[in-house]
Amino acid sequence: MIASERGEVGLAAGIELLRAGGSAMDAVEAAVRVVEANEADHYVGVGGLPNLLGEVELDASIMDGATLRAGAVAGVTGFPHPISIARAVCDRLPQHLLLVGAGAERFADEAGIPRGETLTDEARRLWLAGLEPEAIEQARATHGGGEVAYRRQALAQIQAMSPPEGPWGTVNVLALDATGNLAVGVSTSGYPWKYPGRVGDSAVIGAGNYCDNRIGGAACTGRGELAIRAGTARTVLLEIERGADPQEACAAAVARTLDLPDEFRASLQALCLTPDGRHGGASTASGATYSVQSADEDTFTVRERKQI
Ligand code: GLY
Repeated sequence: MIASERGEVGLAAGIELLRAGGSAMDAVEAAVRVVEANEADHYVGVGGLPNLLGEVELDASIMDGATLRAGAVAGVTGFPHPISIARAVCDRLPQHLLLVGAGAERFADEAGIPRGETLTDEARRLWLAGLEPEAIEQARATHGGGEVAYRRQALAQIQAMSPPEGPWGTVNVLALDATGNLAVGVSTSGYPWKYPGRVGDSAVIGAGNYCDNRIGGAACTGRGELAIRAGTARTVLLEIERGADPQEACAAAVARTLDLPDEFRASLQALCLTPDGRHGGASTASGATYSVQSADEDTFTVRERKQI
């Protein structure tokens, strides 16, 4: 299994399932659930930072490399584990792939997925401290100018907020099971102070998540709008098909976003795992890493991503 920064907390749960003969889909879901429950991660699940209106809106997706089936949810409130709703969409609602907002929550209730509080006191404190009240009022009142003004402030806040333990962020988990099946899971609370209803790449198959047993699995973290515009996860696999190794494939896919006009530019990362167990990652930021653990290893190791 491999995981993006702060996904390492979930690897033990996924590896345990793989050792017991579990599927890549089960391992990915189990690992992502651990990250979603980690209140110290303010970009995923419980403890995620809220949107402009103070509501935690979660996005997630999961994709099965054997069938190219996927499930995704976006803008979900009141459920700590959006990855499990995405998995249920994949398994139980196969005529659909992506559910949003109230529809996703209705389906989660029907599927028996527990509701729970996602806004922690610490996340609310960080949210309240983040923006000038006038910017919030301006963004509430207008589309366009007000939205742009608040996004500028939000970006400055995000850049100033790196906690001492390392980068915060969306989580990617990729698994290869004993039968050779690959799966990819992604989960996020998106940008702090995001405009309500904003959906990033984590819920968008081809952008933040893609998986095909014949080629590999790929996933993204960081500036989701860039990954959506460039189809970054799918592009990683196109580069693998062209003969690149996983690290070079990630670097080439991320590099395709560098020239895109974007006044809110932030870092973008990609990860890749191939059916023969090779892996690699790339980032536009320095010092970016990912974690790797095999079923015969007691713990994970941290690898560097290529910086582009
Ligand atoms: N990459 C996560 C997001 O943009 O929401």
